[in-house]
Amino acid sequence: MSDRTPLPRLAVLCSGRGSNLGAILAAIAAGTLDAQIVGVFSDKPKCAALRLVPEALRWSAKPGDFATRGDFDQALGDAIVAARPDWIACAGYMRILDGAFVERFRGRLLNIHPSLLPRHRGLDTHQRALEAGDREHGASVHFVIPELDAGAVIAQIVVPVQPGDTPQTLAERVQAQEHHLYPEVLRWAVAGRLHERDATAVLDGHTLFTPRRLEFAE
Ligand code: GAR
Repeated sequence: MSDRTPLPRLAVLCSGRGSNLGAILAAIAAGTLDAQIVGVFSDKPKCAALRLVPEALRWSAKPGDFATRGDFDQALGDAIVAARPDWIACAGYMRILDGAFVERFRGRLLNIHPSLLPRHRGLDTHQRALEAGDREHGASVHFVIPELDAGAVIAQIVVPVQPGDTPQTLAERVQAQEHHLYPEVLRWAVAGRLHERDATAVLDGHTLFTPRRLEFAE
């Protein structure tokens, strides 16, 4: 990329540890993701994720300080708009986004979810995969729509369930792969290869009727 071409701008939404944000930052630092983080936004002012970026890039607020969910999401959305991102990546953002927020950023708003969607939307996915006797589990990156974890799935990684797995052991293996999956999908996004059209994901002009299944060596 030429020095004069501005780097694509990423906003990242986090609520917790921030290991996916860390993987995105590492990919940028390694020169394998041509993008810049223009803001990290959180509903948990004390979360570890925020500390991964300089203070000038942090925005956080407590939802309890706002009268309604819509008021919080309006303030969050206004802060994101002020950062002028090209793409917005939810990376362990654990609060449901209201419909107005999603529509505001629709088509530019991605999420990583720890299951092979459409299986196991919502919370406690690793435990639910084990309880269901699933032989395969994994993670998905999808476009965000107002219905929770229901947007078009772009790409997935698959993790075989092993005898003796606990929710923790399974989560560790899934998250290790998430750290490859999200930067890869963001590479497609910032390169202009990825679009949401008629509620489906389109990569390189081709509708993804099924998500791309990606494999990464550890
Ligand atoms: C990740 O495993 C992500 O898939 C999941 O939270 C974890 C965040 O980890 N996201 C969800 O469950 C969204 N509903 P991190 O903070 O270390 O990136």
